[in-house]
Amino acid sequence: MTRHFLNLADAGAEALKAILDDAIARKAVRKGLPKGQADADAPLAGRVLAMVFEKNSTRTRVSFDIAMRQLGGSAVILEAGTTQLGRGETIADTARVLSRMADAIMLRTDDHAKVEELARHATVPVINGLTDLSHPCQIVADLETVIEHGKPLAGLEWAWLGDGNNVLNSIVEAAGLCRFNVRIGVPEGYDSDPGFIARARAAGANVTVVRDPVAAVAGADVVVTDTWVSMGQAHAEEKLAAMAPYQVNPALMAKARADALFLHCLPAHRGEEVTDAVIDGPASVVWDEAENRIHAQKAILRWAFGQV
Ligand code: CP
Ligand code: NVA
Repeated sequence: MTRHFLNLADAGAEALKAILDDAIARKAVRKGLPKGQADADAPLAGRVLAMVFEKNSTRTRVSFDIAMRQLGGSAVILEAGTTQLGRGETIADTARVLSRMADAIMLRTDDHAKVEELARHATVPVINGLTDLSHPCQIVADLETVIEHGKPLAGLEWAWLGDGNNVLNSIVEAAGLCRFNVRIGVPEGYDSDPGFIARARAAGANVTVVRDPVAAVAGADVVVTDTWVSMGQAHAEEKLAAMAPYQVNPALMAKARADALFLHCLPAHRGEEVTDAVIDGPASVVWDEAENRIHAQKAILRWAFGQV
């Protein structure tokens, strides 16, 4: 069976834990090496990852490229607009061709159905590099960061502030798999996917929607936010106004636990969803979180290739 990573559930709870262990262990072993130097065991030597971007990216493209180099392989980056996909070649045919030329495919796109379609027709692993529905690779890096900062996941209280978006859906999914709780501080009308919430609850996570931002963040171990306007969404004044009370600023952060961590997948819109004082402050672990994209991608890739 080809292993696709379209959502965290494709791996499941046990494999997700193994992926996190692998990411943390391999990061420690190669500490201090130049970033482009391969790991001593080069477990993906000779393998090629094809990455297709239908949306912008800094972290995802660089981290997957560097991840493949560190694993001994290489990556090819395709901007969809300059490929035949951008001129109407079907996703199915693109999947067939890339499966003959590369050993795995990553896609960043809008409609989640596109990554599912790609996976249906590919004979090599397909990885979701972000869709409008979810961003599972990001959340592996987030989980790694929280663990590394001394907080084992089970039983933690996470607080989300702002828009009910793709990143939140994957956090909620992780809550079910890793058994932590999420208080979702999202204004009415901007809720996240109810299916992810229902599945996390069924798995035993306490996931609650809290309209009051102070109640959402009260006593939280982890405080997370993201842009109020995701890629492909309209920059509506009405939405920004609804989001304003959910800005993570020092006053709101002070309601969380004294040792709470602040996460943001980046890019940040300083002065909108988060202020400088928080993202540059003592609770912020966003640069570790960004670096961990590399270590997380490596473990996800190794899982996709059956090595984890
Ligand atoms: N967090 C994240 O996915 O960043 P990029 O959009 O830069 O890839
Ligand atoms: N929610 C954001 C995440 C960017 C990494 C977006 O989809 O634009």
